[in-house]
Amino acid sequence: MKELIKNLEELNRKAEKGGGDARIEKQHSVGKLTARERIDLLLEKGSFIELDKLVTHRCTDFGMEKQKFSGDGVVTGYGMIGKRLVYVFAQDFTVFGGALSETHAKKICKVMDMAMQMGAPIIGLNDSGGARIQEGVRSLAGYAEIFQRNILASGVVPQISGIFGPCAGGAVYSPALTDFVFVVDNISKMFITGPEVVKTVLGEEVSMEDLGGARVHACISGNAHFFASTEAECFEQIKKLLTFIPWNNQRKAKAFPSKAPKAEYNIEKILPADPTQPYDVRDIIKAVADDSDFFEVQQDFAQNIVVGFGRVDGETIGFVANQPLVLAGVLDCDSADKAGRFIRFCDAFNIPIVTFEDMPGYLPGVEQEHMGVIRHGAKVLYAYSEATVPKVTVILRKAYGGGYIAMNSRHLKADFMFAWPTAEIAVMGPEGAANIIF
Ligand code: HXC
Repeated sequence: MKELIKNLEELNRKAEKGGGDARIEKQHSVGKLTARERIDLLLEKGSFIELDKLVTHRCTDFGMEKQKFSGDGVVTGYGMIGKRLVYVFAQDFTVFGGALSETHAKKICKVMDMAMQMGAPIIGLNDSGGARIQEGVRSLAGYAEIFQRNILASGVVPQISGIFGPCAGGAVYSPALTDFVFVVDNISKMFITGPEVVKTVLGEEVSMEDLGGARVHACISGNAHFFASTEAECFEQIKKLLTFIPWNNQRKAKAFPSKAPKAEYNIEKILPADPTQPYDVRDIIKAVADDSDFFEVQQDFAQNIVVGFGRVDGETIGFVANQPLVLAGVLDCDSADKAGRFIRFCDAFNIPIVTFEDMPGYLPGVEQEHMGVIRHGAKVLYAYSEATVPKVTVILRKAYGGGYIAMNSRHLKADFMFAWPTAEIAVMGPEGAANIIF
């Protein structure tokens, strides 16, 4: 008996080493943590229960039967954050570059299924070279099984992805199907095909960072929702996000009473009466939110609209606001995508939406029309109109034309509309209207 237990302990110890000391050292040498270190930082101390720690792949092609690592490149299980249950998987780059095999995929699918059964969030820590090339189509099938579960879980339990390495191919599609994607400066890379393939197919030379680095996805593509300077900061961001959202679509987010009661809002000091003078609408949101705590989503992308979470009287609110500081707060393709997606998340997870409106309409021009501003803009209309959570709109200044309708107008079933004394509600601005009529 003692011998058997000793054997098991030895197997467990070996599994915890992933691809071995040399590869762990290599991972550390490029400033990255290992899968297990990441889980330790994310979950409450001692709460992690690991599953399928000793499974190995079943591939016998390309001499793979001689290269087996317990756990097969992904650490999976469950644990606690904020005293509540979460499911987690963390890909281990020290084993075949975290590449996804049939077995690796089955482990991820198992925790996704458990998360849905238990009504708990699923957090994926991705660090993977994509499909494990040696396993061919079995690996692709594994990805498809994960994507299918991402879609089934969408709107049922929150799905969160952290990108902690060079994630290629299938490794970026699953995060794209989840609710929130976190990236880390200099560490996260996301692309469908890496620089080598880009060079072969298009003759273009581009670095990994310029092709799909953290800043690219936080600022330009909009694939990322949160940007952190370090992995540790990223885990703190994930934990903060979880304080604002419920564990599943049957629940409300936990309420947190404000630390200090609001003395006054001072909107009149923030909002200029002159309709051409810009201001930062985030100051208005902070004036309304408990403790001025506003957790902005996609802060660096499509900055002409601001979205994010805060609380009013302790309850989570999804704030959506035109940003007069950028492009006068117009709606364009990117800002419409950003707002539409955020509104749908709030609706799925019982989070009331407060909208601050101040915008002259949709952005005109050949570029926007050709990019499909009609198609993208329609997403905002659809999202507001179908949302059944409480919806309140405050018209701060301009509510013109399509913008008047799109920004949660009463015709899209806003529950309450408020007009600040500076509100202007019209089919278009006075100059445009005068030009057409006269
Ligand atoms: C098997 C892989 C692998 C993969 C990396 N490795 N990617 N093994 N399948 N996809 C292995 C390497 O052989 C190496 O093994 C170890 O992981 C570390 O990789 P390195 O290249 O040494 O690391 P690095 O220089 O940091 O580069 C990381 C990388 C690069 C950028 C991810 O490895 C890479 O470009 N990999 C291929 C990416 C790719 O094209 N994936 C697409 C797959 S197709 P050793 O033994 O030396 O440690 C796909 C389609 C799905 O995903 C579509 C779904 C819709």
